[in-house]
Amino acid sequence: MQRIIAVANHKGGCGKTTTAFNLAGALAEKRRKVLLIDMDAQAALSKGFGVYDAEGASLADALASESVDLGELVRPTPIDNVHIIPADERLREVELGLAGKFGRELRLRATLREHPQADYPFIFVDCAPSLGFLMGNALVAAGEVLIPVDLGTDSLDAMVETLEHMRFIRKEINYGLKTLGILINDVKSRTLYMQQAEEFLRGKYGELVFRTAINSSVVVPDAKRARQPIVYYQPRSALAEQYRQLADEVIARGEG
Ligand SMILES: Nc1ncnc2c1ncn2[C@@H]1O[C@H](COP(=O)(O)OP(=O)(O)OP(=O)(O)O)[C@@H](O)[C@H]1O
Ligand SMILES: [Mg+2]
Repeated sequence: MQRIIAVANHKGGCGKTTTAFNLAGALAEKRRKVLLIDMDAQAALSKGFGVYDAEGASLADALASESVDLGELVRPTPIDNVHIIPADERLREVELGLAGKFGRELRLRATLREHPQADYPFIFVDCAPSLGFLMGNALVAAGEVLIPVDLGTDSLDAMVETLEHMRFIRKEINYGLKTLGILINDVKSRTLYMQQAEEFLRGKYGELVFRTAINSSVVVPDAKRARQPIVYYQPRSALAEQYRQLADEVIARGEG
């Protein structure tokens, strides 16, 4: 069975790309093949793996034209078992070009159905921080949504809005869309405020919140600069272990 998982929260900078990058690494280490789809014109995930190419083919081509074979856009990354369909700024042009067109939110789902990437048990779609066309396409194509939050208030408000948006998409178009889980990311020191915020979140959303939380660490930007997910960059670190545990939870939730 293939799982298509959107990594979404319309709050900027809460760790969507970091989660896609490192969780893909942790699943690859467990011998799962992962396809990443970079759905953000800023292309942070493509840059993270060193496959960004402003002149080359990108996801924009497949969203703009139904005749483009999605499979031809897939590129290897430095990590075995992790492949990526890169993004570039042209995603913004595609959005403008399709403005007002019927079915514009269905493009990613349509191209994935037309060109199924059956080799990959996991497809992750790294979303842009906005509730617009690109996130809409991701939430229509996905079966599940992983929502990273940091414990700042903005991020929690944005999470609630993202859940609302998912409810709308579930009601209108993508009836089976599930919340895979809420991931507490970038946990700084265990201040009282942070503990209370975490307790609140776990009290309110219960099992939806992953048991694993990801600490704040300078290793996160360092690993990205080295183009290596943390399980490869610092395999024995506490952070690598957190991503392995998160990968186990993600696998287990798919089996339940
Ligand atoms: N656990 C962490 N520890 C330290 N730094 C982190 C952590 N998670 C994310 N960051 C840093 O925070 C910044 C934002 O993270 P990231 O790019 O993953 O967020 P995003 O949600 O994808 O942002 P955007 O909404 O702009 O796409 C990055 O510089 C990243 O290195
Ligand atoms: Mg991002």
